[in-house]
Formats: sequence, structure tokens, C-alpha cells
Amino acid sequence: MSILLSVLAGVLAVYILLYYTVFKGARFKSSVSLKGKTAIVTGSNTGIGKPTALDLAKRGARVILACRNKQKAEAAVYDIRKESGNSQVLFMPLDLASLKSVRDFAETFLKSEPRLDLLINNAGVIASGKTDDGFGMAFGVNHLGHFLLTLLLLDRLKQAEHSRVVNVSALLHRLGSVDFNLLNTHKDLVTGQSSWYAFRAYCHSKLCNVLFTRELANRLEGTSVTCYCLHPGVIATEIGRNMGLVQKLVYPIMSKLFFLDPEGGAQTTLYCALQEGLEPLSGRYFSSCALQNVSADGRDDALARKLWEVSERLCGLA
Ligand SMILES: NC(=O)c1ccc[n+]([C@@H]2O[C@H](COP(=O)([O-])OP(=O)(O)OC[C@H]3O[C@@H](n4cnc5c(N)ncnc54)[C@H](OP(=O)(O)O)[C@@H]3O)[C@@H](O)[C@H]2O)c1
Repeated sequence: MSILLSVLAGVLAVYILLYYTVFKGARFKSSVSLKGKTAIVTGSNTGIGKPTALDLAKRGARVILACRNKQKAEAAVYDIRKESGNSQVLFMPLDLASLKSVRDFAETFLKSEPRLDLLINNAGVIASGKTDDGFGMAFGVNHLGHFLLTLLLLDRLKQAEHSRVVNVSALLHRLGSVDFNLLNTHKDLVTGQSSWYAFRAYCHSKLCNVLFTRELANRLEGTSVTCYCLHPGVIATEIGRNMGLVQKLVYPIMSKLFFLDPEGGAQTTLYCALQEGLEPLSGRYFSSCALQNVSADGRDDALARKLWEVSERLCGLA
């Protein structure tokens, strides 16, 4: 009996230690108002994006939900309007797996919206398969679609007095790398389609988010626009929807025990978007509402510049 109690106490101690050192995130506290400001949040019909959009709406912003599924997005618009009391919440179709859709979104936005203060590049997938343009899904959606979107909206961002781009990356960027030869031959950062390759491709794409933020900050120096990237924490969302069977069985248990809810997952995004005085840290990476270091590759300026140039070419911008 006493052995059993000791084991239980040990397990509980490990759980508490893990929860408070690894999983529990910080909360962003600020009363800043966004009245008169406009924000875009990609992938905001569910997961971390939805409470991010809700928080911005509660602060009075005009919020554009940039999503690929009309039905899900309109349901989210309904929920967010109802909970925030803000009727300035709108859906605009955006499928990041199609460069044409990205261009159409930007054209519609630029024609109909006179200002842009916050661009939150939140959408993300862990999936195999190809985008409409033949790129690997994770590379195409998580990096290239957001890269093109940001560049097409940059002039509108520059017109605002102070504006920000926030790229939602992940701690898993640390396992990522960028192989430009593979990009040339396969339009992808991996060679296979199994769930292992999908996971690897996700890590690579999240490193791309870090490198894109770094180079974007360099290119934006001296303008009114700053940019940031972040790890949101480990969050119970639909991100694992394409996982294999074993992970699908383990995920709900892990998520109940350890993972933050989506609102908790939105905190560092909101910090990067709204924290006052963050401008000198443009280009940097955050987690738990605090500055963090990135992997060695994530600090490589030459790699960041090369990724930018290759991405421009792949999007047909250069
Ligand atoms: N959850 C975590 O533990 C965790 C950890 C680290 C980083 N992140 C990052 O957090 C961000 C949000 O992920 P999440 O956890 O909230 O996942 P999620 O619940 O799966 O939400 C992802 C969002 O992205 C959208 N999306 C996917 N493909 C798209 C496309 N082609 N075009 C437009 N939108 C698309 C999804 O739309 P549909 O609903 O239509 O599919 C959904 O709205 C991602 O960048 C992810 O990498 C998450």
C-alpha cells in the first residue's frame, strides 16, 4: 500500500513539475483599445486563431477572418460577434494552399479596406499532399502562402502609423532545416508523403516562419511596420487532425492532462500584436509572452535572405 502511495505521489509530482515548467503558459494582460484599427487573422475559424480574433474584436478592432471554409468561418463570425458585441467582424475567403486565392484575397481586401494595422499569420497544417501550385502542403500553406499574403499587403501596413505582422511559428522549428536543392527538385522540403514526412515538413515550415520574420524585420527597418514570431505553447486544437492512429488515441489523454486551451494558446500572439514598446525587438521570437532564443538556423541571416529570394521566385514576384 505504502509503495503504491509513493508511486502515486511520484507521478503527481512529475505531472505538476512538467505542467508548471513546460506546459503552463503566461497570460497577456492589457487594456489597450483597438477602436478604429483593422486586423486580419488567418485560420481564425477554430483553434488558436478564433480566440485571437475574439480578443481583438472585444478591444473594438475591425477583424477580418481570413479562412478557407465559408461555413465554418461564418459560424465563427457569428460566435465572435455575439460574444464581443462587435459587428465589425467579417469573413473573407482565403485558401493559403492556392497562390491565386492569396492574390484574390489581397485584391479584395485592398479594394474594400482602407487600412491595416495587424496581420496575424496564424493558419497552419500538419499534412501531406500538395497545394494547388504543386508545393508540399506544409511549406505551401504555412510559409509560402503567408509570405505572398504579407508582401501583397505590405504597402497598406506601411500606411498605418504603427502596424505589426505576427507569424505563428512553433518550438518545433528547432527540428527544422531548409534544403534548397529539394525545393528546386520537389517543390517541397521533404521527399515522402507518410505522416513522418508530414511531421518533418511541418518542422521545416515552422523554421521558415522564423527565417521569414527575421528577414522581414531587416527589410522593414526604418518603416512604421514591425514583425514578430512565436511559439503559442502546446495547445488542444485540431492541429493533429491528420495524425496517425496511435497519436490520435494518445492525443486526447495528453491534451486533457497537459495542453492549454485555445484561449491560453492565443496569449503570446496577442502579446506580440499588442504589447507596448516591443518595436526594438522586431524580427525576434517569443513564447509564454516573453522573448526566447531560436535555433542556430533560425539566427542565420544568409539563410533567411536566401529563403526570401527563393520564395519571391516561387511566388512569381521576382
Ligand atoms: N496547437 C499547438 O499545440 C501548436 C503548437 C505550436 C504551433 N502551433 C501553430 O498555431 C497555429 C494555429 O494552429 P492550431 O493549433 O490552432 O490548429 P487548428 O485548430 O488546426 O487551426 C488551424 C487553422 O488553420 C486553417 N487552415 C489550414 N489550412 C489552411 C489553408 N490552406 N488556408 C487557410 N486556412 C487554413 C484551418 O482552417 P480549417 O478549419 O478550414 O482547416 C484552421 O482555421 C498554426 O500555425 C500552428 O502551426 C500550434
